[in-house]
Amino acid sequence: MKRVGIIGVGEYLPEKILTNADLEKMVDTSDEWITTRTGIKQRHLAAPGQAASDLGVRAAQQALADAKIKAEDLDLIVVATITGDMPTPSTAAIIQNKLGAKKAVCFDLSAACAGFVYGISVAQQFIACGTYKNALVVGVEVLSSVTDWLDRNTCVLFGDGAGAAVLAQVPKGGIISTYLGCDGSKTDILNIPAGGSRQPATAASIEQRQHYLKMQGNELFKIAVNTMTRAAETVLEQAGMTFKDIDLIIPHQANARIIMAVAKKLGIPEDRVYLNIERCGNMSSASMVTALCEAVQEGKVKKGDTILLDVFGAGLVWGACIIEW
Ligand code: COA
Repeated sequence: MKRVGIIGVGEYLPEKILTNADLEKMVDTSDEWITTRTGIKQRHLAAPGQAASDLGVRAAQQALADAKIKAEDLDLIVVATITGDMPTPSTAAIIQNKLGAKKAVCFDLSAACAGFVYGISVAQQFIACGTYKNALVVGVEVLSSVTDWLDRNTCVLFGDGAGAAVLAQVPKGGIISTYLGCDGSKTDILNIPAGGSRQPATAASIEQRQHYLKMQGNELFKIAVNTMTRAAETVLEQAGMTFKDIDLIIPHQANARIIMAVAKKLGIPEDRVYLNIERCGNMSSASMVTALCEAVQEGKVKKGDTILLDVFGAGLVWGACIIEW
């Protein structure tokens, strides 16, 4: 099997910023509550009419430039998202057209906050076995389109954004180990009840606000801490490594308290944990890849470093991945 690595990254965050002070004017909340309970200070919001592909294409162009790969040479585009432009066609197909990546095979992948790690794992298989030479994996969300702006339990948490990574064969390093999982018995604690075939859009479903994200935050908190801890331990065990071998851990950005609880359980010092939640909130599929991109651009991930990605989300799904940069 061939070695596969990430050879370019990019991101795009929409210009509009919604601060905690702005939210204080919308629902019964406070900057103090949001900051201490979640670690979030602000989040980016897509402009009216700006859809997932509009964000995703900007991140993709940056990643392709970083990888020095032309769009027309792309073999595969995987878009991880739960807020694609429309149910069909795929947002990957729309991005393919916008990029001019005419020969790329395209599909979307739904694994919520674990989407990017699922996405690079899928792309890795195609490249490792020689089917394709390269792949673009985009993680993008316009969560503002499924956020109930009257529900203070959820609306303070989410944001919009996009990140992208180009994968190809690498002579050394690259993806060392990946671990993915799913527990489909808990679909009720984080979901969007309507808009699919179970509950198509009706006047009643809209009136009952069933097209928005519903979440049992408290329940999820505990599961997230335990699952992310176990995922990180499992992927390290698979690779025959310990935390001493890891230069930086990049966790899913759902809540700074979840992240710090995981770091504490794993015995990892805070300065080896990357956070962008304060500026971006939780962007589901886009969170991991934008955090990775920013960590690289800020020089916190350098050539030869070993990083650990650790994700958890609706499904419930989880994953962890060790990459030598
Ligand atoms: N502003 C002020 N008060 C709020 C609030 C807000 N935005 N949202 C909830 N509260 C209130 C609740 O109503 C509750 O009040 P009550 O005690 O009078 O009933 C109180 O704060 C505590 O609520 P609780 O749910 O116990 O808070 P929490 O400490 O668990 O924090 C979350 C809530 C949502 C921030 C937290 O549970 C969380 O991050 N969960 C995981 C989310 C997650 O991982 N989601 C995505 C998975 S990828």
